[in-house]
Amino acid sequence: MKEMINIALPKGRLGEKVYNIFESLGYGCPSIHENSRKLIFEDEKNLVRYFWVKPSDVAIYVEKGAADVGVVGKDILLEYEPDIYELLDLGIGKCRMCVAGEKGARRHEDRTIRVATKFPHIALSYYQSRGLDIEIIKLNGSIELAPLLRMSDVIVDIVETGTTLKENNLEVIDEIVNISARFISNKSSFKFKTAQINEMKNRLLGAV
Ligand code: PRP
Repeated sequence: MKEMINIALPKGRLGEKVYNIFESLGYGCPSIHENSRKLIFEDEKNLVRYFWVKPSDVAIYVEKGAADVGVVGKDILLEYEPDIYELLDLGIGKCRMCVAGEKGARRHEDRTIRVATKFPHIALSYYQSRGLDIEIIKLNGSIELAPLLRMSDVIVDIVETGTTLKENNLEVIDEIVNISARFISNKSSFKFKTAQINEMKNRLLGAV
């Protein structure tokens, strides 16, 4: 018997794009278009229930099994290493995780480098693999401010169009990894709803 599939989507532009893909593949849930502050939307016919979740929380909902599947940026998977299955690269929401700093600034690699970032784990592994000591300054947004105010030497952050860096006189020093949106599944959901989740994955595969 087919069961309801619970899907965690990242609130925001990427999530809307992802929902439209799901809708075009037969997983529509018309009530989602109602302009409301509701966070859960269900469609009995297509057997889908969508949750709008803060993008950085999608993997938590999926890991805990509150959602069977979800769509999340590879940056979040690298940072938090959740215990989930990564089923598919959707090839959207593309950006790069980069080290960036002030244009033309001298690099202080002879002493502890101060790194401002939302991604301490990614930053630490990057510098550790180069044998460099760093001090992490964990921020939650507007990371680009840190080097401008001399609070950090560099930042490790996501670069999409490069506009934010450019407008703040910063430049990419190194590219750490390419990022894109991934379709993920809870491990036991995948075991118990294998056919349905694989069907969803295969439809997505045909669309991306
Ligand atoms: C992200 C990222 C950069 C910006 C990069 O920030 O942290 O600041 O987008 O995009 P761009 O290369 O196209 O300019 P976000 O908008 O998520 O806001 P934040 O400052 O709260 O992290």
